[in-house]
Amino acid sequence: MSGRGTALPVLHRERPGYATPEAAMNPARTTVDDVLGGIERLGLIDARERTEILSLLDSGFAFASAIQHSDSVHAHVKVEDVDALPHQELTALGHRPENAEPGYIKYATDAGVHFIFSSIPVAQDDSIPGAVTLATPFLDHVGVDMRDESDTTRRVYDAVVDRAGELGWREVTQAGPVHCCHTQVQGKHWVYPPDDWPGWRRPIEFAFGGLSVFEETMGCDLRPIDPGHALAPARGPACGGERPTGCGG
Ligand SMILES: [Fe+2]
Repeated sequence: MSGRGTALPVLHRERPGYATPEAAMNPARTTVDDVLGGIERLGLIDARERTEILSLLDSGFAFASAIQHSDSVHAHVKVEDVDALPHQELTALGHRPENAEPGYIKYATDAGVHFIFSSIPVAQDDSIPGAVTLATPFLDHVGVDMRDESDTTRRVYDAVVDRAGELGWREVTQAGPVHCCHTQVQGKHWVYPPDDWPGWRRPIEFAFGGLSVFEETMGCDLRPIDPGHALAPARGPACGGERPTGCGG
């Protein structure tokens, strides 16, 4: 997906927090809900989005196997203006700003759920007039970070495609490497629930491989639009052609 010819220096690779499936993500549900509650009280997610994000941890979640082989999850929230975020309140909650760019910031937490806030284009939808109907702030997608590069985790990642097919979810694969500003992962599967799916409305991203962090920004691969969206192009690149201005993280 990159098409970039210049090798950039890798500052570091984010170590998979857990090298074995036994140690994969198993955060305390109450801890995650406490973190989500803090974000909700700041008006950055609503109660429904809080419930959706928390449901990732349900044993009956549609893609529970992938969650079990992940290191963390993230909620990507579109906001009107990243500069106007309540940064002091977020840091007072103990959350740590990372990877800040104009119109983009990640807040890491200790609960295994992280938050990305952006006001720049992050999705193919953003360049299609009328495709985005939600008012900011809104949850653009959640991401499942499958950093462990073992064969087992790779199989679970690959199985997302068939699982989506079984369930009637739509799926788009971004073959790697997939970039977001300073970072790169090996590949992503994106899944989109059918309209009548109970309890879930937003796209889910499964990102495979350790996160490589580069010294300089590399452009970004946008989140593909739901292929079932009424305004989705019939054909064409999944990521749109505006990589330099967006950030799909
Ligand atoms: Fe993401």
